[in-house]
Amino acid sequence: MPDQRVVQLYTVTNANGLKMDVTNYGAIIVRLYVPDRDGKLDDIVLGFDEFSGYTPDSPYLGAVVGRYGNRIADGKFTLDGKTYTLAKNNTPNGVPVHLHGGEVGFDKVLWNAEPVSKDGIHGVKLSYTAKDGEEGYPGNVTVTVHYWLTNENELKITYAATTDKATPLNVTQHTYFNLSGAGVGTILDHEVTLDASHFTPTDKGLIPTGEIAPVEGTPFDFRKPHKIGARIDADHEQLKLGGGYDHNWVLDKKKPGELSRAAVVYEAKTGRQIEVFTTEPGIQFYAGNFLDGTIKGKQGRIYLYRGGLCLETQHFPDSPNQPNFPSTILRPGKTYESTTIYRFSTR
Ligand code: GLA
Repeated sequence: MPDQRVVQLYTVTNANGLKMDVTNYGAIIVRLYVPDRDGKLDDIVLGFDEFSGYTPDSPYLGAVVGRYGNRIADGKFTLDGKTYTLAKNNTPNGVPVHLHGGEVGFDKVLWNAEPVSKDGIHGVKLSYTAKDGEEGYPGNVTVTVHYWLTNENELKITYAATTDKATPLNVTQHTYFNLSGAGVGTILDHEVTLDASHFTPTDKGLIPTGEIAPVEGTPFDFRKPHKIGARIDADHEQLKLGGGYDHNWVLDKKKPGELSRAAVVYEAKTGRQIEVFTTEPGIQFYAGNFLDGTIKGKQGRIYLYRGGLCLETQHFPDSPNQPNFPSTILRPGKTYESTTIYRFSTR
């Protein structure tokens, strides 16, 4: 790193030949090799071969984002009577808002990392302590992330966090998947299912209006599988604001906090499929609309407009300013816990 600290890269494998490379810079998943239906391994996540690719302008490729993943309106929130001011580091449709924890969020810091193994399963444990006042947020917060590669071909991610002052917290994983292989075309032919009968429409700044709207009868209805490209440019105000899909879906859950299926993504040519399970109440399905074909990634491949998609399991955007959304406030003495599983298979 510019300050001479050394960045590490860990390689994790499972019993079936799946392989994942993880760096402790930003807790970034650099490579993830999974088989297609003929058993051919390909790297299906966007990223860079060299550390230098992960500049501050990298659009969060592979990283953990936080302290608050996604947006906070006007870079401000009030907690226990005190107003906090955050960086407005993003301007969707010209509106300045706070995004992914600010100027130097969890994606741009060096985490402590160590290899972990349990019952024949391998992984990496990463932890980071954000200081009281860091990026404007209150409280010293310690976050621990475990990445496991199970023998059921799952990337299992667990998050845990504690704080010494009340603070908003919403951590998620910002990997861009392309099931044809990183840098191979767009994701428009991928079929998506989302287990959500509602979503949170946004204003111009991509901040939720507060409404929990039914997806029924809209291009946001993915309760049955649809190709992403089929409706992404449909004449719908929300698609215009997002530049395509870039919204939070409200997951249908029997019990809040239960680990349940959130999404399925399938690519017919390779047969690859991802099933996503999470304990979180929402998922940001982002279709890579801000990728503009200028990023040259691994093996010199260009990442096209809509060349990758993110499935960011999360609490809803702007929750610190939205009293009717599930709370994202972590208080001293409590432990934040969250689990997300990406299960890879073929059909
Ligand atoms: C999230 C946001 C998108 C975009 C990307 C990063 O997915 O919802 O609007 O900011 O991160 O480019």
